[in-house]
Amino acid sequence: MSRREQLARDLGRARERTLRLVDLDDAELRRQYDPLMSPLVWDLAHIGQQEELWLLRGGDGTRPGMLPPEIDSLYDAFQHPRAGRGALPLLSPDEARAYCRAVRSAALDTLDALPEHQLGDPMGCADRSEGTAAWSDPGFVFAMVVSHEHQHNETMLQALNLRRGAPLLRATATVPAGRPGLAGTSVLVPGGPFVLGVDGADEPFALDNERPAHLVDVPAFRIGRVPVTNGEWQQFVDDGGYTNPRWWSPRGWEHRQRAGLTAPQFWNGDGTRTRFGYVETIPADEPVQHVSYFEAEAYAAWAGARLPTEIEWEKACAWDPATGSRRRYPWGHDEPSATRANLGGAALRPAPVGAYPAGASAYGAEQMIGDVWEWTSSPLRPWPGFVPMIYQRYSQPFFGGDYRVLRGGSWAVEPGILRPSFRNWDHPYRRQIFCGVRLAWSVPDGEVREPA
Ligand SMILES: [Fe+2]
Repeated sequence: MSRREQLARDLGRARERTLRLVDLDDAELRRQYDPLMSPLVWDLAHIGQQEELWLLRGGDGTRPGMLPPEIDSLYDAFQHPRAGRGALPLLSPDEARAYCRAVRSAALDTLDALPEHQLGDPMGCADRSEGTAAWSDPGFVFAMVVSHEHQHNETMLQALNLRRGAPLLRATATVPAGRPGLAGTSVLVPGGPFVLGVDGADEPFALDNERPAHLVDVPAFRIGRVPVTNGEWQQFVDDGGYTNPRWWSPRGWEHRQRAGLTAPQFWNGDGTRTRFGYVETIPADEPVQHVSYFEAEAYAAWAGARLPTEIEWEKACAWDPATGSRRRYPWGHDEPSATRANLGGAALRPAPVGAYPAGASAYGAEQMIGDVWEWTSSPLRPWPGFVPMIYQRYSQPFFGGDYRVLRGGSWAVEPGILRPSFRNWDHPYRRQIFCGVRLAWSVPDGEVREPA
């Protein structure tokens, strides 16, 4: 398959998923389920508006677009925070669908007209001397647009999860059974250098904040073999974890009190939880979801552990000490599959811990990709040598802010856009995202090092 055919296929897959999510009546699409999330019809038109901006308008909006400027600007995420989007004079669902179709048709014409060498793979983005110019390679920009649409699909699932009322979505895939005895266990990652981040030569579609690849020395540590489960979290609740300031950072405790937190979001207090409108018994062996960074930090302290840094997390996920090189995925170089990771959104839930022994990393950590985004202790910072991509506001405005990095992707993430180097971030108090926790422990100095 040529690069052109691959990109056309990827665009098509993203759109199929979007259209499935907005296969709802107009009133549903216009509703704002929660001030934290946009009405679904905003996401729909925004997907089209960003596709038009990057693929048809050169990324800076100086070329006229299909929408009048005053309508186009409604879909600028920086101009309009989510809470106010429900009150904007948005395109109707039919208008938004027609707009997305028109943009897509023109984008495919643009793709057809590009010479194949401009869609080459790899795309040379690894060469720092090329600066930002390399980011405007059409193949990269098309892939960035595909990634953007899938990222919004996950956001739309977060909105639908906050919706009250009878379920609208049903799972179209099941997850494998877990294996008992793994909760609370850990694996050792010996100290030693590894390659953090990726270059365009290896991962041509990696976004700016994942680059460049560089060597980092990491002291030995242990990391949870699997994410923390609901059953473990219940013990924290039962032990008074939410009422004892001892486990909480001062900021975390202040937030816990102000927000009145007593358990993960969507837990009902009677052993059940609500998930996409379904009320069900909380599965003890499933990774906990919908806890904030502040809660994750408190849980870790209670458990005698800490959160991993994102650098530790990436080493445990991607490094292969036997070959002294990175794996494309925790298990190796083969593409994600239903026996390796829970991705793509069809399950509508995480899989129980131990469900993917074939997905283990070189160090034996499981479910690092898929299931739940995992909070790390790291604030979002650029890697040394960072160069902003053509979408300059993707990462750069968020560096240095009060965000924590999440790694690994959730069950809702499209496999084609996820890499061990992928960095997500959010405010430390957020928990409507499909996020969970993996613990880490420091190991005394000099205990174990990998051979150089
Ligand atoms: Fe966006």
